[in-house]
Amino acid sequence: MDMRSFVRALPKAELHLHLEGALDPETMMRLARRNGVDIPFRSVEEIRAAYRFTELQDFLDIYYRGMDVLRTEEDFYDLATGYLERAAADGAVHVEVFFDPQGHTARGIPFAVAADGILAALADGRERLGVTSLLIMCVLRHLSEDDGFAAFREAGPYIADGRIAGLGLDSTERDNPPAKFERLFAAARGAGLRLVAHAGEEGPASYVAEAVDRLGVDRIDHGNRALEDPALVRRLAERGMTLTVCPLSNLRLCGVPDMRRHPLKRMLDAGLKATVNSDDPAYFGGYLLDNFVAVAEALELDGADLVALARNSIEGSFLDDAAKRAHLDRLAGAAAGRAEQVRP
Ligand code: ADE
Ligand code: ZN
Repeated sequence: MDMRSFVRALPKAELHLHLEGALDPETMMRLARRNGVDIPFRSVEEIRAAYRFTELQDFLDIYYRGMDVLRTEEDFYDLATGYLERAAADGAVHVEVFFDPQGHTARGIPFAVAADGILAALADGRERLGVTSLLIMCVLRHLSEDDGFAAFREAGPYIADGRIAGLGLDSTERDNPPAKFERLFAAARGAGLRLVAHAGEEGPASYVAEAVDRLGVDRIDHGNRALEDPALVRRLAERGMTLTVCPLSNLRLCGVPDMRRHPLKRMLDAGLKATVNSDDPAYFGGYLLDNFVAVAEALELDGADLVALARNSIEGSFLDDAAKRAHLDRLAGAAAGRAEQVRP
């Protein structure tokens, strides 16, 4: 059995996906025209040619500029729907998606325009595609904690009734340590949100420890640089901390020179609950299944590794225990008798 078909058939969750990072060049052009937004590109090819970043900040500059085409609820709905269709085609049964409200409110787009458009798409995706979902709002760490609090307050009604399920931390990691947001994360925990934070993508291993110890996160997004601290790796493994790893993104931004040197297999061997995700698929050259296949081929992962990655994604999700159990039973069924036959 070929690996792509095997992985597609495994029930799995995507846990690290920025919706604004799923804005592909075609959609960017279409929305720019639809909304009369002036973008500095004349064609899809010109947009693609601009994706030459090798550092997080270079990427973020383009990512924030690209967002400017998102103006109406319909734009956010279309963006999220396009992503969900891709995720469903890749065999995702559940997704936990990030959005960056401050990236929109700072441009004069109300919080509710972004949130309502996305939530409508998630509801339709559940009905039409059978993909369940949760929405996580991220705060931008290059801005102040007070700015993050303002976003959190605007999200109040959405948090109160569960439409927003979690708080995340993203954007420029260097010089913006997790502890900068300690009070905000404490308030979010008090409001019942689940907590995640990017750490160890470009920042040091100590930022991963800080996200765990000072912010009390339930998952670490990326976490690659934790491997530089063996004692931290043991602690993360003992706690069963999920890492949401993004192989194709890491190739561009995390200093991984070649997929054959990606740390995913080392993470699994160290007992870390690593998962595979796409981060910003429109910018990094692949959606969920592309990420699985790229890293599995390069590292010669076997069927058991692939099943473990899918299992980690279900177990590390914020689904309730009954839903996790149901997905894990289906995963066991999908893997039974086939995992041994997967051709690397
Ligand atoms: N925002 C969108 N993608 C991101 C990434 N990979 N790291 C930090 N912030 C982001
Ligand atoms: Zn990310």
